[in-house]
Amino acid sequence: MQVVHTIPDLRQALHKVRQENRSVGLVPTMGCLHEGHRSLIKKAKAESAFVVVSIFVNPTQFAPHEDFSQYPRTFADDQALCEKTGVDLIFSPRVEDFYAADASTWIEAEGVSDGLCGTFRPGHFRGVATVVAMLFNSVQPDVAVFGRKDLQQLAVIQRMVRDLHFPVKIIAHETVREPNGLALSSRNRYLAPEELKQATVIPAALQIAKKLLAAGEKQSSIILAAVRDHLATEPSIALQYLAIVNRESMAVVETVTPGSCTIALACHLGKTRLIDNLDL
Ligand code: PAF
Repeated sequence: MQVVHTIPDLRQALHKVRQENRSVGLVPTMGCLHEGHRSLIKKAKAESAFVVVSIFVNPTQFAPHEDFSQYPRTFADDQALCEKTGVDLIFSPRVEDFYAADASTWIEAEGVSDGLCGTFRPGHFRGVATVVAMLFNSVQPDVAVFGRKDLQQLAVIQRMVRDLHFPVKIIAHETVREPNGLALSSRNRYLAPEELKQATVIPAALQIAKKLLAAGEKQSSIILAAVRDHLATEPSIALQYLAIVNRESMAVVETVTPGSCTIALACHLGKTRLIDNLDL
């Protein structure tokens, strides 16, 4: 496995791969890799001949009050996980090499970025779309794999790829969960053991939406009220938003159309912000 930190080194490594006509798969990450990432990497390996994992904690997707400086950086462990999972190359640029000091070009997927997390993290999806575009331009992957857990991020990237004609196939991969249902996330490591137990109310509450839909209930307001009531049984959960949306446009829907809608939420548990969603 190669580890490169600069774009010239990356291009040199990939030049050979392209000459051999091997397809390239990219898994963009911010490091702090866990089983969820391992599953994205395996998917990339199944879909391409040469797998690149980018590890880059992207400053432009964090607001000034957010956890950029505290975001866990675990490069040695990440490298070991990549090596074990059969990654071919890690691309891990330094912030000052990847962004020009006076960088002023941004990508904004309007509309799809605005609600849900976009309401509470203004500028976040602009940072995500821009860095993903930079990674696509640097790696020029044939496929790129993203987790469905970051529902809105996935929708933003799919929109960007469609609108700007990036020649890359986006693969959406299922959320990986603990046996108790909790979605895997790098931020779970901020949770105390007690909070990890409390957090299981989140997937349990989302499942209620699925059960109601299976029983014939299609009104979002009724489904959302039942999910909210269940979340309220755990007082340490502070709900930020709960919505049922069309998963392509991220528009809120009043009536659920099975197959195209997703229930999504963000909440705080102590100081940790968690997101989760379930396709309906
Ligand atoms: O999901 C993430 O880890 C990040 O948002 C991404 C896609 C790597 C962009 O920095």
